[in-house]
Amino acid sequence: MEAIVSYHLPLFLLPLSLYLFSIIRRNTSDDRKNLPPGSQGWPVLGENLKFSLSPEKFVKERMSKHCPDIFQTTLMGAKMATFCGPKGNKFLFSNENKFLTFWFPQSMRKVLSFPRIAESSMKVGSTTKSILHHDLLAPASLKKHVPAMDALAREHMERHWKPNSVVKVLPLSKKYTFELACKLVLSEVDPLRVKRLSDPFTAVTDGMLSVPVDLPWTAYRRAIRGGEVMREEMMRIVRERKEKMVGRNEGETSDFLSKMVMARDEDGKLMSEKEICTQVIGMLVASYDTTSSALTSVMNHLAQLPHIYNEVLKEQMAIAESKGPSELLTWDDIEKMKYSWNVVRETLRLTPPSLGSFREVATEFTYAGFTIPKGWKTLWTAYSTHKNPECFPDPERFDPSRFEGTGPAPYTFVPFGGGPRMCPGKEYARLELLVMMHNVVTRFKLEKTIPSEMMVYRATPTPVYGLPLRLHPHQK
Ligand code: HEM
Repeated sequence: MEAIVSYHLPLFLLPLSLYLFSIIRRNTSDDRKNLPPGSQGWPVLGENLKFSLSPEKFVKERMSKHCPDIFQTTLMGAKMATFCGPKGNKFLFSNENKFLTFWFPQSMRKVLSFPRIAESSMKVGSTTKSILHHDLLAPASLKKHVPAMDALAREHMERHWKPNSVVKVLPLSKKYTFELACKLVLSEVDPLRVKRLSDPFTAVTDGMLSVPVDLPWTAYRRAIRGGEVMREEMMRIVRERKEKMVGRNEGETSDFLSKMVMARDEDGKLMSEKEICTQVIGMLVASYDTTSSALTSVMNHLAQLPHIYNEVLKEQMAIAESKGPSELLTWDDIEKMKYSWNVVRETLRLTPPSLGSFREVATEFTYAGFTIPKGWKTLWTAYSTHKNPECFPDPERFDPSRFEGTGPAPYTFVPFGGGPRMCPGKEYARLELLVMMHNVVTRFKLEKTIPSEMMVYRATPTPVYGLPLRLHPHQK
C-alpha cells in the first residue's frame, strides 16, 4: 500500500494553483488546426493520473467518447496523439522513418541517462542493433541459450521454490529474469557485483513511470537515486572490461558487454564508456520488467484456470518424460511447446507488459482527417486492440485457441510492437517464458493464496501483493 501511495501521492498534494494555468492557457497556432478530439487534462500534469491508474480504461473511455481512430491527450508533459485500432497501429509501424522520430520522455531520461547526454544516445544505436541481431539474439545464439536458461531455471527452482510451500511470484520472476539477463549480457562480471546492481535496478524500474515529482518520499526520487547508483556501478564495470580487453582480439569476446567495448561504428570509432553504459542499461531495462511481468501473469492464469493448467501440464510432461532427468531442454523441445506458447500469447493479449511506445512528429501530417502537428508526440498502445471486441470477440475470455491456425488479424496483437523498432528480444522472451513455465508446471500445481488479488499498473501490470502462490508438489 505504501508503494502505491508513493507512486501517486504527489498528484494529490500538488497545489490547486496549477489549475489557474489552465485559465491563462495560450491560444497557440495549433488550436486553429483540425486537431484530433480529446482533452489535454490539467496543466502540467495533463492526464497522467488517469492514465497511470488504468491505461486500459483510459484508452477504452476515450475511444468511445472522442473517436475510435485517434484522440489527443497530454502525457509526460507532452501533447500527444494516441493512434487506435489496427489501422492506427499499422500507420505508426509503417511510417516510423517518414513522419516520426525517436522520443524519450524527459522524466524517464532523468532516471535512465547521464545528465546532459544527447537524447539520441538513449536510442538503441545501429552498433547495438547489429550486435543484438548478429550475436546475442541471432537464431544460432538463441539455440544455445535454451540449455543455459534451463540450467539457471533448475537452480532457481531448487533455491527459491522447492524449499517453500508459498512463494511470491513477482519478486522471484524479477530475480530470475535479472540473473539470466546479466549472465548473457555481463557473463564475465563477478556475480556479487551483478547482485549489487539489482537493488538500484529495481528502484529504477519501479519508479521510472511514476508521477514525475522529485520529492524525498516519492517512487520517482527513489528511481532517480537508483539510476545514479546503477550508472556508477555500470561505469566501473565498463572501465574494468575495457582494461581487460586491451590486447585481446574480437574473436575472444564472450558476452554482449565485451562486444560493445570492441565494436566500432561506421567511422571506425569505438563507443565512449558513457554510451556503452547507457546502451547496456537500456537493454537490461527493456528486458527485465517486461519479461518478469509476463512470467507473473502467466503463473496467475495457470493458478486461476485449472483446465488451462491441465493442458499445459500434459504438453510439458510429455516433453519431460521424453528426456533423462539431468538432460537440459533444447530448442527442439521448445518447438514442441505449441499449446503453452498460445497460453503465453493469450496472457500477453490480456495483460500486455508494455503499454506501447512514444514517438515525436518530425513532419506535420494528416490522419483520419485530423492534423497532427510537428513536435507533437504519438502513442500506440496494445490496449486499443487487445481488449477490443472487434479484434478479439468476447475479449475478456482467456482462450488460447485464438492463436491457432492463422491467428489474430494483422496489427491487432501487438505486445512486441511492430515495424522497424519492433522488440528485438521477442524470441528471447519466448524461450525464457517457456523454459520457466516448463520448470514450474512439471514440479508444482499452483493455488492462489489471495484469489481476488488486484492488479495495478506501474511500468507494467503488477499484482499488489506480488502474487503469492501455494505450491503443491506433484506426487512421484
Ligand atoms: C515479454 C517480454 C517483452 C515484451 C512484451 C517487450 C515489448 C517491447 C515493446 C512493446 C517494445 C517497443 C517497440 C517500439 O518502440 O515500438 C520493445 C522494445 C525493445 N525491447 Fe522488448 N519486450 C520484451 C522483452 C525483451 C527482451 C527479453 C529484450 C532483450 C533481450 C528486449 C529488448 C528490447 C529492446 C532493445 C527494445 C528497443 C528496440 C528499439 O528501440 O529499436 N525486450 N519491447
